Amino acid sequence: MRRMVAETRLRPADLILPAFVREGITQPVPIQAMPGVVQHTRDTLRKAAVEAVEAGVSGIMLFGVPEDAKKDAAGTVGTDPDGILQVAIRDVKAEVGDELVIMSDVCLDEYTDHGHCGVLDADGRVDNDATLERYAEMAQVQADAGVHVVGPSGMMDGQVGVIRDALDTIGKEDVSILAYTAKYSSAFYGPFREAVGSSLKGDRKTYQQDPANVRESLRELALDLEEGADMVMVKPAGPYLDVLAKVAESVDVPVAAYQISGEYSMVEAAAEKGWIDRDKAILETLTGIRRAGAQMILTYWATEVARNLSADR
Ligand code: PBG
Repeated sequence: MRRMVAETRLRPADLILPAFVREGITQPVPIQAMPGVVQHTRDTLRKAAVEAVEAGVSGIMLFGVPEDAKKDAAGTVGTDPDGILQVAIRDVKAEVGDELVIMSDVCLDEYTDHGHCGVLDADGRVDNDATLERYAEMAQVQADAGVHVVGPSGMMDGQVGVIRDALDTIGKEDVSILAYTAKYSSAFYGPFREAVGSSLKGDRKTYQQDPANVRESLRELALDLEEGADMVMVKPAGPYLDVLAKVAESVDVPVAAYQISGEYSMVEAAAEKGWIDRDKAILETLTGIRRAGAQMILTYWATEVARNLSADR
């Protein structure tokens, strides 16, 4: 009876798998702070994409991790057609074609030696408008590599509009934009910084949002939609369910939420200590995010949960 009358359902198609691919490795490298998650080789990424398809996951969000020596102040490899992310997009596309919605991160932090999401001005501050030019070019090389959806995650003002123009200019009108609309400056990104080998010192408070604010997110939302966002996202997910509910209430575009690294690690760590029931806790977090209004959820558990959901029918 509970199953019959449940108000919220979770299906494999609701899930999107974020995945890391690292240049120059021959074996996947485990991420210490995210047990069960690895930095993929090009080969194991292809396998992970196939597994995701088989489990019924609907999308994959790719993050590239370049060789350390290739990082520079401008994040040059982010716009190199042969940079690791572009190569990975082509690999996944060749492997699974259109069976999976292929998404990619448009952000410079994985490629800059200072670890910021943008380029810096003479005073060492992130230069919003100079960064937009880099994002425009990044989106274009990713689109050329065959990506279906770009996900600008850097929270620069005007990024969605600039990327939309840049894509249209090269005839990529059909590449969609998943806007990181409300991305908070969060302590829960900690494990991700290990995952991408981030060089960041300091914080992202000049461009990511204050956890205390919600009206500000609705303003960000209005701007993103005006600039041409096809889908919008709230991130992190769990600590921001109220933001998610408000965003979902006020738009008619698909709404996503990103259950981030720290949310993953907390459950894994508590489960490892035997303090919570891992599988039940995972499902509860995802159900809560769905209930709050996310149609799509980016989660590192995507493939595992999708498999279990299918088996559970
Ligand atoms: C920036 C980016 C971050 C995440 C996704 N894209 C990190 C940050 O803003 O510092 C975090 C994802 C996670 O923690 O799982 N490219």
